[in-house]
Amino acid sequence: QRPAIQRLEKVRETAMVGGGPERIKKQHKGGRLTARERIGALLDEGSFVESGMFVQHRCRDFGMEEKHFLGDGVITGCGTINGRTVFVFSQDFTVFGGSLSETHAMKIAHIMDQAMAVGAPVIGLNDSGGARIQEGVLSLAGYCEVFNRNVLASGVIPQISMIMGPCAGGAVYSPALTDFTFMIKGYSHMFVTGPEVTRSVTHEVVTQEQLGGAVSHTTKSGVAHGAFDNELDALARLRDFIDFLPLSNREAPPRRAFDDPPDRLIPSLDFVVPREETVPYDMKEILEKVVDDGDIFEIMPDFAPNMIVGFARMEGATVGLVANQPNYLAGCIDIDAAVKAARFVRFCDCFEIPIVTFVDVPGFLPGTAQEYGGIIRHGAKLLYAFGEATVPKVTVITRKAYGGAYDVMSSKHLRGDANFAWPSAEIAVMGAKGAVRILFSGSKDMDGAAQEYKEKFSNPYIAAGLGYLDDVIYPRDTRSRICDELRRLRTKKLKNPPKKHGNIPL
Ligand code: COA
Repeated sequence: QRPAIQRLEKVRETAMVGGGPERIKKQHKGGRLTARERIGALLDEGSFVESGMFVQHRCRDFGMEEKHFLGDGVITGCGTINGRTVFVFSQDFTVFGGSLSETHAMKIAHIMDQAMAVGAPVIGLNDSGGARIQEGVLSLAGYCEVFNRNVLASGVIPQISMIMGPCAGGAVYSPALTDFTFMIKGYSHMFVTGPEVTRSVTHEVVTQEQLGGAVSHTTKSGVAHGAFDNELDALARLRDFIDFLPLSNREAPPRRAFDDPPDRLIPSLDFVVPREETVPYDMKEILEKVVDDGDIFEIMPDFAPNMIVGFARMEGATVGLVANQPNYLAGCIDIDAAVKAARFVRFCDCFEIPIVTFVDVPGFLPGTAQEYGGIIRHGAKLLYAFGEATVPKVTVITRKAYGGAYDVMSSKHLRGDANFAWPSAEIAVMGAKGAVRILFSGSKDMDGAAQEYKEKFSNPYIAAGLGYLDDVIYPRDTRSRICDELRRLRTKKLKNPPKKHGNIPL
């Protein structure tokens, strides 16, 4: 072989081992994969094309001039997931703890630019000790190069962060700006300030796991959209997830071959809503029965479970599901539920994914915690999101649709395309007991008044009579009616008034 070719081979071999065999051993010992192994597990076999393999840092301080690793702690490039192009960066903890230098950031920025030009998602596999301490403000500038690209790419290409290890300080803000952040249970941590600083400032004693582990972020903070048991499971699920998404806002969401008949009747739905209005039931059971093959990728399943959001398919095409969950807080909308659903609705609208909404909502959650917490402005986010969305919107009211929550949950008045109710629907300003307490306080026959109110309003026919519903449907027909509508709405065109951008209440 020619010497030049031999040299190339040698340099490539060096690049492939990142921080060296010892550090790789340490990484494996902790039950973790290397940055390259993760890319291998995520992408179709042999599809990865690397760019920037030879990039090195330019730091001359703190002895860094002696320490060089090819690639500078991040592996970047593109490849395919089930044949569709994605761009990937994977931080290499074996090189300077995956810390972000000027050149490390430049590599990430480069693939983000390419992804924007081509129209393909960016997936970040984050595993980093944060800003490269030896580089000072250069690394902070590097972060902001990435942040600003995250902002500009928002709504143009899907951006997904999979947190594989530590993600602290400024590093958290890139994932926070992306559309979806996933974590690995017990392995990944995200916090702006770590346990040490927290202890010295607030005197709170917490572990990394308590402060920023997957459980905290998927149940308490809502920072992460899902958590997985281990790295391989996470990367396999990420492949499934990408299958639901369009590659960019320039193309329609993907459609795949399907064999679940669109006109499949579901007789059990006729019996799913309990006769007694206060008895809960599981909305997920309805969703699973209605969508193709019961396949739902739920987003934030453990955060605000009173609102269900997730992706599914109808006739092979991606839809976004939004649904109240009567099994938790009776399906009331609280701050967390409103914010969770609003962000999801906006993602769907950015990427032309039709939204199917199932409603059983007794109202907004009462109480000082909610009012002081700003349920008014947070609830308004969901109203805003549904109102501005121009994608096809199909709504099914299964039981309660009370008060302002009726309006918010993708009602006809928010430009709903097809609004259906089951015969069990109750569309009113509030429940019968609450209503008569206000209307007839002090009256003797409260029960009789409640019964009268119930008979008048605890049905879908007044709303249907006013044209606020397109139809009252047999529950068993729900799948077939939704499929019909979505098929018809595929060519829907609706534009909002021209403006720089709206001012959603944040
Ligand atoms: N800049 C430069 N090098 C860093 C780094 C950073 N931000 N974070 C980690 N490293 C280096 C370490 O110096 C170490 O190098 P060495 O093996 O040559 O000694 C290597 O990465 C591994 O780090 P280590 O601390 O041994 O790993 P750990 O698993 O025990 O701990 C962290 C991981 C992330 C918790 C710890 O490294 C840390 O706290 N880093 C600093 C976090 C931070 O404050 N960053 C700035 C905020 S923007």
